[in-house]
Amino acid sequence: MKRKYEVVVIGGGIIGCSIAYYLAKEKVEVAVLDSGSIGAKTTSAAAGMLGAHSECNENSSAFFPFARESQKKYFELKDELYALSGVDIGYREGGILKLAFSEEDIHALNHLLVRPTVEWLNESEIRKMEPGLSPDVLGAAYIKDDVNVIPTRTCESFAKSAQTLGTQFFEYSHVYGIEKQDGNYIVQTANGDIEARHVVVATGVFSKALFKNLGITEELTPVKGESIIVHYEKPVLTHTLFHDSCYIVPRNNGKLIIGATMVEDDWSDTVSLQGVNFLIEKANTMLPAASAFKIAGFKVGLRPGTFDGHPFIGRHPEEERVLIASGHYRNGILLAPETGQMICDFILDKEIKSEWVEAFRVDRRQYMRV
Ligand code: GLY
Repeated sequence: MKRKYEVVVIGGGIIGCSIAYYLAKEKVEVAVLDSGSIGAKTTSAAAGMLGAHSECNENSSAFFPFARESQKKYFELKDELYALSGVDIGYREGGILKLAFSEEDIHALNHLLVRPTVEWLNESEIRKMEPGLSPDVLGAAYIKDDVNVIPTRTCESFAKSAQTLGTQFFEYSHVYGIEKQDGNYIVQTANGDIEARHVVVATGVFSKALFKNLGITEELTPVKGESIIVHYEKPVLTHTLFHDSCYIVPRNNGKLIIGATMVEDDWSDTVSLQGVNFLIEKANTMLPAASAFKIAGFKVGLRPGTFDGHPFIGRHPEEERVLIASGHYRNGILLAPETGQMICDFILDKEIKSEWVEAFRVDRRQYMRV
């Protein structure tokens, strides 16, 4: 292992791989370290919905414009990454139908329906679109632009593209500390020390230990998500169905994902019967044909939760060459491109939208009005 890099990115999930890609495009010398294999933890459990609209529950924050920019980036990335890596990210159009079963649900969709990119579909319109839907559905917010990708392939595609452009990847290289020495940083790994001019912490919920090591007082808490993968023989669904933070996502690999539970403060990576029961019930409520689906497997991952549900993206409050990109909660896949671009811009001292810098800074809590 070479011992000195311009940037060491800790974490080889989709966030770390996207950061490496954007830096590599700028010819920056990068090493990515992961304690296991690339994309094998939380990234591998994600459904891959690019839900810029569907995951945004208020209109006032910086989250929506940031998420929307990130979502739009995928449109070009899918070809750009394929050309460099030969890996197809599984970009699938169709969009999301956010379903309403009650007047209360309709009311909760109002904030979305003010957007020109979201359309209300009544009962008969929606049934023409998805004939298999439950007869209890009253209508839906149709979000055409909330397309989906296959997360493991997307992560692999970012990693292979970065590698093609010169980034080095070191798997099974657990990082247990970062120390400052002569103006640079020494990243201490199970395989020895590596020196870096800049360090990026992008290990999702597992950044918690490094936060402590770096004197960052903010917490990252796990919100476990369990999902069921099912086969389907003929297309029973062309759009993603979404209700109450649960969803059924059709993928272009002959599988559907039924997800996901929200189990707070659970560090285990096991799937519970309670979780499976909950998901089956939710799936049947949206799509009665779901009970006939054949199970292909289960997925589980730990979403990195933050105090306000938004990620930490920015410089360490006291160490400007230590960057944080963690806490993407339900939206790691969606936010990966813009997070990669933003961290790259911080490192290269380029201009970044001040609303984004403020909204995602690590120490924002102390500047927030209560
Ligand atoms: N992005 C959906 C989820 O975290 O379940």
